[in-house]
Amino acid sequence: MIGATRRTGRWDHRMTFLFNSDAARGAIFREVLAREIPDLRFAIDPAQVEADDVRYMITWLVPPDLGAYRRLEILFSIGAGIDQFNAASVPPGVKIVRMVEDGIVRMMQEYVTLAVLALHRNWPAYLDQQRQPLWRAIPQPQAQDRRIGVLGLGLLGQAVLERLKPFGFPLSGWSRSPRAIEGVTTHHGADGLDLLLSTTDILVCLLPLTAQTRGLLDAGRLARLPRGAALVQTGRGAQLDQAALLAALDSGHLAGAVLDVTDPEPLPADHPLWRHPRVLITPHVASVTQPETAARAVAENIKRHRAGLDPVGLVDRSRGY
Ligand code: GLV
Repeated sequence: MIGATRRTGRWDHRMTFLFNSDAARGAIFREVLAREIPDLRFAIDPAQVEADDVRYMITWLVPPDLGAYRRLEILFSIGAGIDQFNAASVPPGVKIVRMVEDGIVRMMQEYVTLAVLALHRNWPAYLDQQRQPLWRAIPQPQAQDRRIGVLGLGLLGQAVLERLKPFGFPLSGWSRSPRAIEGVTTHHGADGLDLLLSTTDILVCLLPLTAQTRGLLDAGRLARLPRGAALVQTGRGAQLDQAALLAALDSGHLAGAVLDVTDPEPLPADHPLWRHPRVLITPHVASVTQPETAARAVAENIKRHRAGLDPVGLVDRSRGY
């Protein structure tokens, strides 16, 4: 993607921010960055910049010629996840930064609240009844008797738990290392995961995809959930064994699932999950980077970096997120 590397009189050799995504979002980033960091040059077209001027880049995928940007300091992901990056192909001196911005957080709060309430209030079953049509009330447990368990207690997990508090569900959460959150029973580590699963009626997965979380929700772990439990999958598709989910739904062990991510994406048209009466599927839209707030977050991070501080969302390569 590097174009001309010739030096001619018209090159503008200021430090450059290279935006490797669509032009519509780029226009918003251009405006915000020009306002927030006026000395930074903004470019969408790599052919219009000299590679050595590029200090910051934002992208969804790591471009194959990344190594040519020898003075790159920060590689920003357009999205909250960085599992689509092959971190090994990013030179060790380059900081990798996840997208942490208010828009993503707000949208994830909305989506998970919607999904939890839909499962709590038997929405998949009522949609199925509507298709029949069948006018029949389903016994309704109260919120205090529906235990919600959230996997992943980073910014998104904590924000989601905060939004769920007013409904009165008993809340618990699990993370790799110990965390304390007011009003939430927290667990960590392998034993903590088993405990959380066995005491959760609606499981919300917000984990990043790493070597440790790939395939985490397998038949054995789904079986640990109490009979009648349900799943909200908003992490990554590869964390869930979809065949095991289908089997658990068909045996009646699980009552329902809301899936925003699948493996693969898109989910093939003939996949049985599409037509399962107790599954709701959305096409990876739970939370989408909002250019206005994202551009402000990126500007803030560049300022932090220039001031010698770590950017918010800095990826720990040893953890993988
Ligand atoms: C979406 O899944 C993202 O990573 O932002």
